[in-house]
Formats: sequence, C-alpha cells, structure tokens
Amino acid sequence: MKRDKRIVITYGTFDMFHIGHLKLLQRIKELGDELIVAVSTDEFNQVKGKRTLIPYAQRVEIVENIKCVDRTIPENSWEQKIKDIQKYNIDIFVIGDDWEGKFDFLKEHCEVRYLERTKDISTTKLKQSLSSFLSVSKEDILKAFEVIDILKKDFE
Ligand code: CTP
Repeated sequence: MKRDKRIVITYGTFDMFHIGHLKLLQRIKELGDELIVAVSTDEFNQVKGKRTLIPYAQRVEIVENIKCVDRTIPENSWEQKIKDIQKYNIDIFVIGDDWEGKFDFLKEHCEVRYLERTKDISTTKLKQSLSSFLSVSKEDILKAFEVIDILKKDFE
C-alpha cells in the first residue's frame, strides 16, 4: 500500500549551526513531506570522537526551530537507524555525501540518498577560524564554553 506522505530522516551533530546545515536540511525537505532530524547527543558525540561547543539541548532547540524541520529525535548510537526507520515509517534516509556509501546497508529498509555538501564551510572550519581569530587553541575555546555552561547552570 502506498502512503501519500513521504517521511524523510537525517542524522547529524549540527554544532555551531551554519549555512551548510541549513541548505542541507532545506534540500532534504524537498524530497518529502515530513522531515525528522536525529541530533547526536553529547554522549554519542564522545563515542564519535567529536567535542561539541554547543550543548545538546541548545542544538536541538535550534534545529527544531528551523522552518523545514518537523521534529527532532535524539541520536544515541550508530545502531539505532533501522529501528528508527521502522518506528517512524521512514521512506528516505538522507545525509551529506561525506558519508557516501556508508549507509547503503539501509537500502533494504528505505531509499538512501547522499546529497552534495555546501562547499567551504564546516563546524571544524568554524572552530579553526574562531581559534585563529582569538589567537587561542581550539581546546581552550572548548574549555571556555564548558566554563560558561557551568556558570550558567549556577544561575538557573
Ligand atoms: N553538511 C553539509 N554541508 C556542509 C557541512 C555539513 O551538507 N558544508 C551536512 C553533513 O554532510 C551532514 C550534516 O550536514 O549530513 C550534519 O553534519 P555535521 O557533521 O553536524 O556538520 P559539519 O559541519 O560537517 O561538522 P564537522 O566539521 O564537525 O564534521
């Protein structure tokens, strides 16, 4: 039975949300009617070997307020994708082409698409620019954000 509503899913960290993220989400939404974004938790980013500047709760708040995004879910592990596809009746799994071929094993569960990344921008590049702009190391910037976060919690 063919459903009329096509549901699309993507996964990512979306740290320091930038124009490459926005353009990707907009192009993904054009492929379907409903867009679900699985945002990697801070704990899962540690597993992936990524240190985020912006905490999970804020990354989620930003992503779910992007016009083309219908809902977010947490990404807690590499293994959850098949379960998510079944649970949310996903028609298409989409991700940037830096992952080309990596998720072809999902093809037996839904359509899989890789979209071209926006050139010359990434969270890594933003962190590098920030670090050279302030003349401090990337690690010091990450530490400073951790301290700001701790201070903020004291005032909540
Ligand atoms: N993405 C994109 N164009 C960019 C950067 C990212 O289309 N210039 C896409 C990625 O391919 C991925 C999604 O955005 O599908 C989320 O990517 P993420 O890893 O969160 O962002 P990056 O900027 O690639 O982060 P990093 O540099 O830490 O890898």
